[in-house]
Amino acid sequence: MNKQGILSIVSQQQIAEQIFEIKCQGPLVKSMTNPGQFVHVKVDSYDDLLLRRPLSICDIDLEQEILTMLYRVEGEGTNRLSKKQKWEQVDVLGPLGHGFPVEETEPGEVALLVGGGIGVPPLYYLSKQLKKRGVKVIHVLGFQAKSAVFYEKEFNELGETYITTVDGSHGLQGFVTDAISKYELSFDTLYSCGPNVMLKALTSQFENSRGFLSLEERMGCGIGACLACVCHPTEDPEGTSYKKVCTDGPVFKVGEVVL
Ligand code: FES
Repeated sequence: MNKQGILSIVSQQQIAEQIFEIKCQGPLVKSMTNPGQFVHVKVDSYDDLLLRRPLSICDIDLEQEILTMLYRVEGEGTNRLSKKQKWEQVDVLGPLGHGFPVEETEPGEVALLVGGGIGVPPLYYLSKQLKKRGVKVIHVLGFQAKSAVFYEKEFNELGETYITTVDGSHGLQGFVTDAISKYELSFDTLYSCGPNVMLKALTSQFENSRGFLSLEERMGCGIGACLACVCHPTEDPEGTSYKKVCTDGPVFKVGEVVL
């Protein structure tokens, strides 16, 4: 069952172009144990659905009950959120959705974590949990430009990390798939989150691999109400059956749904 709670902001800072890191504290955080799940944040006290935002869980400190979220300012809701100060409060619903299955990768195996832009944050909590399990983690993180890069040091502390930028201003010039080919990265399980075009490219390259993709880019309301997130299962690409990314996902197996 989903839970709702009021969390207090313990810190907020800008960490890259348009990207903010916010840390919030409260007992609700204790239930956030599955990486890849997300929360639904009500930015202001009045109940306007348009001002709620589905945000991915970037990190959890269960002992201190601190939730870390990274988000991109791209509209009214996230702009208001970025103005919030320490000790102000946010109304959080969650954790929501089905996250990444950590248990699919055995200790000693290799997991390749591939993120693009604002799809990178949920991979951080995932990577920490995989590493704790004894899995070797490799990260490939793609951004538009150097100014948009974040958490490079944090990922590096967990395992090998390759950065790509479209304009070549940092790391390898190109896309995440270029880095995977160039460095001949092999793996037992693929975990990925990012824009649809990236997930499609990974699917065509690794359709027969064990892999899990998070489709968070397609999220609207985040709670099953708006149908903005529906997609078709691969076995019924144009039929009447569909899946909601927010409640059936956001994580699906590679090839499970039409991207
Ligand atoms: Fe609104 Fe899924 S995001 S129904």
